[in-house]
Order: sequence, then C-alpha cells, then structure tokens
Amino acid sequence: MLILGIETSCDETGIALYDGARGLLAHALYTQVALHAEYGGVVPELASRDHIRRVLPLTREVLARAGAALPDINAVAYTAGPGLAGALLVGAGVAQGLAWSLSIPAIGIHHLEGHLLAPLMEKPAPEFPFIALLVSGGHTQLMRVNGVGQYELLGETLDDAAGEAFDKTAQLLGLGYPGGPQIARLAETGRAGQLKLPRPMLHSHDLDFSFSGLKTAVMLQVKDRALDTQAKADIAAEFQTAVVDVLIAKSLAAIEQSGLARLVVAGGVGANRELRVNLSAAGKRSGFEVFYPAPEFCTDNGAMIAFAAAMRLQNSAGAVSPRGSGNFSVRPRWDLASLEAVNP
Ligand code: KG4
Ligand code: ZN
Repeated sequence: MLILGIETSCDETGIALYDGARGLLAHALYTQVALHAEYGGVVPELASRDHIRRVLPLTREVLARAGAALPDINAVAYTAGPGLAGALLVGAGVAQGLAWSLSIPAIGIHHLEGHLLAPLMEKPAPEFPFIALLVSGGHTQLMRVNGVGQYELLGETLDDAAGEAFDKTAQLLGLGYPGGPQIARLAETGRAGQLKLPRPMLHSHDLDFSFSGLKTAVMLQVKDRALDTQAKADIAAEFQTAVVDVLIAKSLAAIEQSGLARLVVAGGVGANRELRVNLSAAGKRSGFEVFYPAPEFCTDNGAMIAFAAAMRLQNSAGAVSPRGSGNFSVRPRWDLASLEAVNP
C-alpha cells in the first residue's frame, strides 16, 4: 500500500511517500520562512499562493526519488485541518484531483493526529496507550492516546501555545521567525537564572498551561532598555528553562495521574534540545520512557500525514471511500478529540 502524503496547513509544503510494508520511501519539504520573514509571521494569502507553486514539483521530486510513478500510488492523504483555510484548500484540491484521476481514495487527515502519530514512525515505536505532550506553534496539549483516533484531552493551554510563546519572545528580542530554533541557539550562550521569569501555572494542580504571562514578563524585561547580546542571551536561556520546567512538571503529573509509563512528545517544540535532554532525564528518574519523532518530523512535514493515513487504513479495512469524490471541504478549526476511533 503506497500512500502519497500532502501537508499544506501553514507555511510548509511537505510531500512524502509512505509504504505500508517498507516504511518511508522519500519525503521533501519546502519552507516558506524566507517569504514571511519580513512580516514577522505567516501571511495567509502568500502562504496559499506559494503552496500552489510548490506542491506539484515537490510531488514529482518525491516520486522520482522513490523510483515510483503516479499509477503506483494506492491512496492520497492530505491535511484537511486545522490550519489556514486557503493553504489547506491547496493541498486538499490537489489530493482530491489526483485521487479522482487515479481512481484511488483521498484521505483527509487531522494535522494534530499527524503530529501525534509521527513518533510511531521511529524504532522502537511506543505502544498504545500512552500520554502525549503535543507542543506546536498553535497547540499545547496533554492527551491520553488509547489508539488511532482515540484521543482524550487531559489539559491544554488557556492562552498562547508553547511555540507561539517562543515566536513572540523571539520577536521581542529582535530575532527572526520561527522563534523556537533562534531562542534555542541564543540560549546556548545565556545564563538561566541571571534574571527570574515566572513558571506559569506550575502549581495549579491541573494539567493546563498558560504562556501569555511569560511573554509579558519578557516584554517588561526588554521595555525601554538597550540590551547587549549577553543580556538577550540570558533572557533567552531563562525563558527556555521556564517553558521547559512547566512542560516537564505537567508531563510528570499526567504520567503520575494516568499510571502509564510511556510519554510521547510531538510538534515543533518537541525539537527543542533542552526539552528533550531534561524530559528524558526526568523519565529515567521517575521510571517512564520518553519517545520523540526524529527532529525533522517534529515540525510540519508530509511524512506524518502519509503515516497517519497508513495507520488509519491498516486499522479500518474498507472504511474509506474507494475513490476521491471531487466533493470536499477543509476544516480550519477542528477538535482532535472529535475524531472517530479506528478499531485495531
Ligand atoms: O508543529 P509545528 O511545525 O507547526 C504547527 O503545527 O504549529 O510547530 C512550529 C512551532 C513554532 O512555534 C516554532 O517556533 C517551534 O515550533 N519550534 C521550536 C523549535 N523548533 C520549532 N521551539 C523551540 N525549540 C525548537 N528547537
Ligand atoms: Zn504542525
């Protein structure tokens, strides 16, 4: 079963070919970071237009690299939401058109399900059930994952997402977008603890998060002050440590409450080295295992979309419509917990 995966929910065009038996055959990513850089964030209309330019050349490239041709494909998976409406429509339109012309199914995938299942592409893969810490640019959630499509929300951010906090803090420090990798780099020369930033909701006795106060605290540090490189690095280091402290404390609490011994980290912030090192150490101390996707599959990519479709197809023989209908919609807002379970 060969699946073409298409991801166009935001500012990255991701294409991949995943084979049910052989695994990931090829993937390619085009990032629009440079296109949006001067605006300090993603401009939706520019994003959609650029996806249109990239999606077919990237698909050809991925097919060539895998030594495959269009007729070899058995299904086309695409991100149906959540995300930017116009950007989603590009991927959905191409996927539905391809599926219709090839008489194969088109499978709309929830972007966050893609992120959540991405760690299962690694070896060893975590077994269900597990706790997932989903930390992306738009979401920060702790979930209990019992199987494909079985996602129980345990806690989430009440305001900004962790990735969003990285991006906004980077902007305050005069760094570029996306902020996560830039903050992480600057933090390497910084001294956490030189100044003190809050750890929001650390002792709230629930599994929710809040990051907007942290961003405000950084704003107060940079306001009306000329900061030298060292002072900025110190803020970056303290900010990163504050976010990591909260993410680890809440993950530990979720593991404890659930009685499970497996934690899966997914989403762009999951690429953060400080988080990975400290979370794995906490896991060792407390007796649970931590699983991560490869760093390139933490951030948006086509492989996770093809893979999520493969998991759905494997677990639900015959449940997908046999051919793209030509009639489709996307869901810019879409609750992950509303997905239907796929029976093993
Ligand atoms: O999952 P993702 O690619 O897109 C969404 O679905 O949102 O996540 C992007 C987010 C951005 O906010 C980016 O700043 C953050 O992930 N990010 C990082 C790192 N790499 C990406 N945050 C912290 N450390 C990183 N190394
Ligand atoms: Zn994402």
